[in-house]
Amino acid sequence: DFKHPHTFVIFGASGDLAKKKIYPTIWYLYRDNSLPNNTKFIGYARTKQTVSDIREKCKKYMNVRPGEEEKFEQFWQVNSYESGAYDKRVDYELLNQHISKFEKGPIANRIFYLAVPPSVFEKVTENIRNACVSIKGYTRVIIEKPFGRDDVSSDKLSNHLGGLFKEQQIYRIDHYLGKEMVQNLMTIRFANKIFSPSWNRENIASVLISFKEPFGTEGRGGYFDDFGIIRDVMQNHLLQILSLIAMEKPTSLNPDDIRNEKVKVLKHISAIDKKDLLIGQYVGNPDGKGDEKLGYLDDPTVPKNSVTPTYALAALWINNERWEGVPFILRCGKALNERKAEVRIQYKDVPGDIFDGKAQRNELVIRVQPGEALYLKMMCKSPGLKFDLVETELDLTYSLRYKEADVPDAYERLILDVFTGTQMHFVRNDELTEAWRIFTPILKKLEEDNVKPLPYVYGSRGPPEADDRLATYNFKYSGSYK
Ligand code: BG6
Repeated sequence: DFKHPHTFVIFGASGDLAKKKIYPTIWYLYRDNSLPNNTKFIGYARTKQTVSDIREKCKKYMNVRPGEEEKFEQFWQVNSYESGAYDKRVDYELLNQHISKFEKGPIANRIFYLAVPPSVFEKVTENIRNACVSIKGYTRVIIEKPFGRDDVSSDKLSNHLGGLFKEQQIYRIDHYLGKEMVQNLMTIRFANKIFSPSWNRENIASVLISFKEPFGTEGRGGYFDDFGIIRDVMQNHLLQILSLIAMEKPTSLNPDDIRNEKVKVLKHISAIDKKDLLIGQYVGNPDGKGDEKLGYLDDPTVPKNSVTPTYALAALWINNERWEGVPFILRCGKALNERKAEVRIQYKDVPGDIFDGKAQRNELVIRVQPGEALYLKMMCKSPGLKFDLVETELDLTYSLRYKEADVPDAYERLILDVFTGTQMHFVRNDELTEAWRIFTPILKKLEEDNVKPLPYVYGSRGPPEADDRLATYNFKYSGSYK
């Protein structure tokens, strides 16, 4: 298929996502000759502008290394731009003519990326279907969250998309599925004999999946306030990680076999109970620097009385034979002390202790970012004459073991997957249904009861109450981290 002409259309070409992520990504893929030779890129948005305007806006997000200048010029030569409304069919007919000009030969494929606000998802997809589908090859559509705000709105969007395209044509991005260590989860679990016998409630005490960011909603408050951290990060990114950790082994690596298992394990999770959720909202730090002084409510785009959580900790329970009673704790927050996304699989204490309670729990840590790493915390005798215990690690830190170039960006991988037609790392419709089933009731409850989030200081580790809560879920902090 890579021999034939391909057109990649970016709706929302003048927006933030296009500028910061999509243009840089397609440039890297183009630079590395990863895409079909004959690929053309078309930006589409309402703004009247030219390719040079886009280039100017994207420049600072695109890394051009010495010696790549000529290739960079070539990249912009295969770019074009068309302005049009999102809801006018005639504009899409013009777009269709524009694409057709590139499509010499009997076969030609089209990919449409919707980097647009959810309010126009339906219009854009409808118009693509009516005026822009390829008659000489495949048509694929990439969409980004939010996929609705709750079960009802998500179903409505799914039904709409389902009426226009086949599931095989729809690529729902959860960019966490493009991250190296998230993709690694399947291999760690199913290509190693050592883990599978202990991957269960007999051996594992708790699983903690965390996401931390050191900045607030700066400038994105308008969008964020309508969604909150639970919809922004937990219901999608963290739940995806959970399903890859907890699912049974798929029959094969076929994308649908994998996604069948992910859906199956989600079906075993009951909707989150109010007692299993704690929420927080950051307040300014008077001693902090710059933005740290400002709390969430100081953001001019956020309503003054907003109770939208910027931090959340929830325990999910999987009611099946493997996991009953093991808390899966999802924890995420903005404006915290550091950037980190990681999984901690904490093993139970060794029964029949002979070390006077000095042995810490084993923990398998999968650090998604920054600095991909996989390490197993374990107890050893401290080297030397004394017979003491020391906590140590079997450590696979990627930067020490592999070259940086071996870890591509999530978006590069995912966009390439769309070209090759690989849906393994994209969210299937029924996964989404289950995710909303688990989260909608608690989200509704928070809104109905106008639950006030616990305050935490910008740059801190989150609300202090969260640590106490964590302890109730059979998670123990050991000396080396907090
Ligand atoms: C996005 C969220 O999905 O993920 C953002 O909308 C968040 O709020 C981002 O900042 C985090 O992505 P990453 O790849 O930087 O961890």
